[in-house]
Amino acid sequence: MAIERTLSIIKPDATRRNLTGKINAKFEEAGLRIVAQKRIRLSLEQAGKFYEVHKDRPFYGELCEFMASEPVVVQVLEGEGAIAKNREVMGATNPANAADGTIRKEFALSMGENSVHGSDAPETAAVEIAYFFSGLELVG
Ligand code: TYD
Repeated sequence: MAIERTLSIIKPDATRRNLTGKINAKFEEAGLRIVAQKRIRLSLEQAGKFYEVHKDRPFYGELCEFMASEPVVVQVLEGEGAIAKNREVMGATNPANAADGTIRKEFALSMGENSVHGSDAPETAAVEIAYFFSGLELVG
């Protein structure tokens, strides 16, 4: 399988509870390398643009407010089949449906406050990585 890069976000519910290290350990144990990482505070506008694909969904407003409510950690994960592997480690969107051992099963508070984001396809990964990182910040 090809080496891929994917965009990951540790969301406000997790940064608030000091779970960054525990979540990063899950990524590294799964063979994902953290090749870029920074802690930032998103404006409501930046969160809205990031989640633009969901703009007509009923949860959009709440989702954007949540993402802008406290700092997030944005990161680029690299590894073989990194996009699918990251989604596997994250677990299902709704933590009630997430498999044992996944990040969302262990740490998510609800469907909205579900601790992590991960790109869902190569095209979205490329767009999402470029949204937060310049080429100079990616150290392979
Ligand atoms: P989505 O892209 O469907 O899920 P994932 O994060 O697993 O790729 O949705 C984006 C985020 O929107 C999701 O992580 C949490 C939030 N969300 C809700 O709050 N309610 C919902 O019904 C859905 C589908 C998502």
